[in-house]
Amino acid sequence: MDWAGKTLGIDFGTSNSAAGVCVGGAPYLIPIEQGAQTLPTSVFFGAGSKEMAMGSVANRALIAGEEGRYMRALKSVLGTSLMGEARMFLGKSMTFYDIIGLFLAQVKACAEVQCRQSFEYALSGRPVRFHSADPERDARAQADLTECYARAGFKGVRYVFEPEAAALATQAQSGQGLSLIVDIGGGTSDFSVFRMGDGVEVLASSGIRMGGTNFDKRLSVDHVMPLLGKGALIRKEMGKETLPTPNSMFQKLATWEQIPFMYAGDVKRDVARMQRLAVDPVPLDRLYTVLDMELGHEVAFAVEAGKIRANEADAQINLSVIHKGLGAPLSHADMAASLREEVEEIRIGALETFKMATCRADDITRIIFVGGSSLLKPVQEVMAQTCPSAELAYADAFTAVIDGLALGSADPMRYGRAPA
Ligand SMILES: Nc1ncnc2c1ncn2[C@@H]1O[C@H](COP(=O)(O)OP(=O)(O)OP(=O)(O)O)[C@@H](O)[C@H]1O
Ligand SMILES: [Mg+2]
Repeated sequence: MDWAGKTLGIDFGTSNSAAGVCVGGAPYLIPIEQGAQTLPTSVFFGAGSKEMAMGSVANRALIAGEEGRYMRALKSVLGTSLMGEARMFLGKSMTFYDIIGLFLAQVKACAEVQCRQSFEYALSGRPVRFHSADPERDARAQADLTECYARAGFKGVRYVFEPEAAALATQAQSGQGLSLIVDIGGGTSDFSVFRMGDGVEVLASSGIRMGGTNFDKRLSVDHVMPLLGKGALIRKEMGKETLPTPNSMFQKLATWEQIPFMYAGDVKRDVARMQRLAVDPVPLDRLYTVLDMELGHEVAFAVEAGKIRANEADAQINLSVIHKGLGAPLSHADMAASLREEVEEIRIGALETFKMATCRADDITRIIFVGGSSLLKPVQEVMAQTCPSAELAYADAFTAVIDGLALGSADPMRYGRAPA
């Protein structure tokens, strides 16, 4: 097998994906969408359509309220039992293997047209852990992704840990001493401790399943779901007793990849019953509207946008998609308070990496932040406190990983690991 010149670097991210190759020793990112270096990892199956829309086109179809099924955070499904569940799309039965395979196939086809060559192999990023503390499920997630690459038409795939790809891309920023990559994306937080020797010398990499989609979920559960009936009291059919609404419903509605499952008929029937028996029907009316009009993803986008605004200044989560004028205030302090547990898990994840590298937090001389969620101030603050001797450096949050994979695609045997 000769992979040279036929390998495409692919960062299949929870929120954003990208593809690239190495040209003259530098990364070249292929604009899968015109004028952009990355594309949203989202898909849309329009009702009656024969094609799957993806990226910004899928997002626009959702926002325009087109009839069909929208999905985001597909990467979070790898390694779970949902992968093999079949549903009807494009007039045929499809699983998540087919959907992710189709996404990757379209990335491949687009890259081939633009580069005027075929790509038979992929050098793919992967989080250090798809699933924290569950090696079996983690192995299954990589096997699932390998199957998706095969369905996309790649003859082979090799993997690079995402923070190690970022280390490769940002080595010029690392200077002397020990550097730490902190890559906080949409689905995972990944860390690599490295130093420059004969190239990048990685001492240890580690990671946890925790990212921006978890932040969105927490902020939604804390600040939006109470407006939709979380904690609301429902009368029993008989007698005067009341019970709070089931929490699991709100957890699901706040989780990007589970939103479509909330539109099932039996869920709507349950909510309609609760609406009838609610002590205060207003929040349950809103919940019913969200399910009936399939607004779950719009709500999740509103939470995400509110999070990004609240990172800079006190803000609001704009819920006018549910009801004109509806909003949930979100101050910077409220956001930081809601995300305390998540940020603490990230700190512990970094400490675990130092243990594996047999170094101390104090030995880190530079932290290089990558990944969209590393822009979050509470994350930067906790890392700066944890490594008091470190200088803080900021690589391009959204492209450092694909830059490294593009560089590595020139020599996939050296940089990539074969799937187990
Ligand atoms: N300015 C910002 N402040 C805070 N979070 C942000 C900002 N901009 C984007 N994000 C978040 O960054 C995340 C996406 O980052 P990125 O594109 O690096 O993830 P990804 O590579 O797709 O995910 P992963 O690597 O975990 O699979 C989203 O959760 C998004 O809400
Ligand atoms: Mg990423």
